[in-house]
Amino acid sequence: MTVVIESVSALRAQVTAWRADGLTVALVPTMGALHEGHISLTRAALDRADRCVVSIFVNPRQFAPTEDLEKYPRQLALDLDKLEQAGVHAAFTPGVDEVYPEGFATTISVGGPSAGLETDFRPTHFDGVATVVAKLLIQAAPDLAVFGEKDYQQLCVVKKLCRDLNLPVEIFGAPTVRDPEGLAMSSRNAYLSAAELDVARKLNKILRKAATALEGGADEATTMAAARQEILDAGFDAVDYVAARQIDTLASWRRDTNGRVLVAARLGKTRLIDNVGVTAR
Ligand code: PAJ
Repeated sequence: MTVVIESVSALRAQVTAWRADGLTVALVPTMGALHEGHISLTRAALDRADRCVVSIFVNPRQFAPTEDLEKYPRQLALDLDKLEQAGVHAAFTPGVDEVYPEGFATTISVGGPSAGLETDFRPTHFDGVATVVAKLLIQAAPDLAVFGEKDYQQLCVVKKLCRDLNLPVEIFGAPTVRDPEGLAMSSRNAYLSAAELDVARKLNKILRKAATALEGGADEATTMAAARQEILDAGFDAVDYVAARQIDTLASWRRDTNGRVLVAARLGKTRLIDNVGVTAR
């Protein structure tokens, strides 16, 4: 039975009661419109903790005024069914006023891995993410929290946030869940037309080809330029970035360190992101 909790005080009471029984607690933060990617995080959480809380909160502070906050998919009843089936113990579904009461005036800004990539195109995005994630971690006080590698830069920012602020929580990164053709599952895929879906499915193949080329010794700049051109040739309208970086710090790529190739590309009104690993040689 998934208990629905709407207030911070009720969440604290629930987590305190579990702890008094000697149970460990995992948190999986989401913005709802749950799909198999989100559910995989709950499985990773339940593998590692006795109790799992999933938060569902469409966080206004991580959307720029021009972005899709208003039309971001909201489907709470369906989400709660999925959480029930997944064996999640509690859904934390606070309203905007519960998270950001009148007069809220604090922003958490993480440096390091937030530089560049998404930030070049969404300058305030990670301040919004770091602020809400810090709040959720303080509110739920879990032993661990699970985030998806799908949003790889976000995962690195969250790990850095927890390290820098000594938050007593372990952060786990879970692998990206994809459709059979390699398209990373995303709530925003619902915006794609059938023709756009065909184009979107080429993105991961192009990324994997670039990662394999780097692993085989190809030049970084040449490989990234080729990948950018292939993404455009596949039918995308624009490439915000396609770049190789080191894991965790997201500093400039080095062949002798494990890395990641990260991409953001636009297709009609939809912006898709993805990333793949590059093994050091
Ligand atoms: P949201 O986009 O709902 O994603 C919630 C979590 O699910 C994130 O950790 C994300 O990386 C993970 N996820 C999404 N698609 C995935 C996939 N295909 N495979 C595996 N994991 C996937 O990310 C956010 O919400 C917000 O920024 C949040 C962290 C909740 C803060 O508001």
